Amino acid sequence: MPESDEIFADRMLSLGLARVSEAAAIAASRLIGRGDEKAADQAAVDAMREQLNLLDIKGVVVIGEGERDEAPMLYIGEEVGTGNGPGVDIALDPLEGTTLTAKDMPNALAVIAMGPRGSMLHAPDVYMDKLAIGPGYPEGIVDLDMPVRERIETLARAKGVPPSEITVCVLERPRHEQLVHEIRETGARIRLITDGDVAGVIHCAEPDKTGIDMYMGAGGAPEGVLAAAALCCMGGQMQGRLLFRNAEEKARAAKAGITDLDRKYSRSDMIRSHVIFAATGVTNGSIVSGARRDGDWLETETILMRSKTGTVRRLFYRLRVR
Ligand code: FBP
Repeated sequence: MPESDEIFADRMLSLGLARVSEAAAIAASRLIGRGDEKAADQAAVDAMREQLNLLDIKGVVVIGEGERDEAPMLYIGEEVGTGNGPGVDIALDPLEGTTLTAKDMPNALAVIAMGPRGSMLHAPDVYMDKLAIGPGYPEGIVDLDMPVRERIETLARAKGVPPSEITVCVLERPRHEQLVHEIRETGARIRLITDGDVAGVIHCAEPDKTGIDMYMGAGGAPEGVLAAAALCCMGGQMQGRLLFRNAEEKARAAKAGITDLDRKYSRSDMIRSHVIFAATGVTNGSIVSGARRDGDWLETETILMRSKTGTVRRLFYRLRVR
């Protein structure tokens, strides 16, 4: 349970949250296609931090840019906001898809989620095995402990289609060779993405629009918590299990207070209360359009959601840049 469910004034706070992701996306958009991942990320971090510090919150970054010694800004544990207002946990990724931005490829996002203090899993910076599906299915219908074939066949039965009509989104990585092979054996389609698994998971929430029914595979654990926050608002199920490659990664988990290294986290284990979530497009994508220059103006699109009400807003923002 969250430590403080005190007046989490999410209605008005959410509007402020949209400004935060907008600012990060605008800053990063100036570096789209310029081949400089670091500069794009830095621009997004600076802009996000500046806007976040204008919000009337006592915020703590729970999912951020890394440990304090490796990330000077928006590090895990950094206090943000004016200090006047509710105590909140914040999960953020100022630029989710640094390579996508540097190469001008789709689905780079500026992402932020906020919930009451104690509401979010302190996920260490390790990989997480993820499984997600969209809304409308019985709870627990698919499970990380099921073989890949069973996951797909079960979902196909529930959807009333053959497995060949199911599309699974997977990060294209050598580590997923066996996973891809097992999915292909069922006849299901695979949408391979080169980066950006927050967007990958979110795609499951709107299968009619995105064509994606299921997300599978290992990606960043911090991104897993952000994706879980989005699904809390949009509906859909998600499970994750941390993956450790060495003792140093296990030590990261211990530092984050995690004792059961094999634990399977459900969506509500990762996000334990109501949250608000905002994502602004940097490059064009299937969830939101990318930041776009139109003459003297720069335009962005943000998806802004509250889990308490399930409300989804799409905000179009226009800023004079000349
Ligand atoms: P960055 O924006 O930090 O580059 O992360 C992009 C991303 O693709 C995430 O969406 C994903 O969770 C992670 O990287 C996967 O990590 P790896 O590239 O090591 O497979």
